[in-house]
Amino acid sequence: MSTPSITQLNQRFGAPGRIAFREGTAGSPVIALVNPYGACELSLYGAHVLAYRPTGHVPVLFMSKNAVFETGKPIRGGIPVCWPCFGHDPEKKLPQHGFARISTWRLHATEYSSDVTEARLSLTDSEETRSVWPYAFELTLRVWLDQRLNLALTTVNRDDRPFTLTQAFHPYFRLRQIMDVTVLGLDGAPYLDTLTHERLTQEGALRIRAETDRVYSPEKPECVLHDPGIGRAVAVVSTGAKRLVVWNPWVDKAKAMPDFGDDEYTGMICLEPANTDGDAITLAPGAKHTLTLAIQATLT
Ligand code: BG6
Repeated sequence: MSTPSITQLNQRFGAPGRIAFREGTAGSPVIALVNPYGACELSLYGAHVLAYRPTGHVPVLFMSKNAVFETGKPIRGGIPVCWPCFGHDPEKKLPQHGFARISTWRLHATEYSSDVTEARLSLTDSEETRSVWPYAFELTLRVWLDQRLNLALTTVNRDDRPFTLTQAFHPYFRLRQIMDVTVLGLDGAPYLDTLTHERLTQEGALRIRAETDRVYSPEKPECVLHDPGIGRAVAVVSTGAKRLVVWNPWVDKAKAMPDFGDDEYTGMICLEPANTDGDAITLAPGAKHTLTLAIQATLT
């Protein structure tokens, strides 16, 4: 299948002022979606949301100044799609966080109305995916803008055997200064600290003061990030996942990551709705599962 040119994509799927294509990342086109409430950019490489800016706001998503846009490498920032494994594969066949984020997806459709602008992408199994994950599948990602940025990732089992997967949306949120930020909505939630392997309980609002890598089991699948420096609250709401991963690499890990600036840990946090740590999804042949994420930013 030959890759359509930017001109062909604009003719077939574009809409003046609402949906536009440009040359983009890792040789894959980037789609800009615009509506009266904001704009976002989405790459066909990884079905990766690169940027989101509600009208009147500074960008909501963090993208590292050292991010690498090369085939086969994950992008440090935006919203990576982790699938069909979250973290490392215990069988060591899949790359860290799975292959969806380093695969080129296909654009199916775009659509818009007065308030909503949407793109639908898909990924299906290939010889390459079957060599590391031996199942037939269909994965679709809908990304639509209304007053929020919304993502829905649907997995369909197209195999004749059941399969089990872990997954996550891995949004990087942009902050003015991590020391001033609080995350509300996790008070009383049990969590696994994956750095110490302890199982603990969150008390009060979450503040980040050190390297943080935790899997929370919140009562409600929503939390709010308060950033007084920007003067903004960002609500992160999901369905289809029982866990929320919170990650900040802090000083040493930031220095160890080549695609991340040494001091950039002060300007980001990841809040990741995930099916992991006892919440893996098993799908019978023909069955499907949808994970959603909605991000809504409000000036405070
Ligand atoms: C988080 C994990 O989701 O992603 C961390 O909890 C991991 O353990 C981080 O370090 C970044 O992963 P990667 O593969 O994008 O460097």
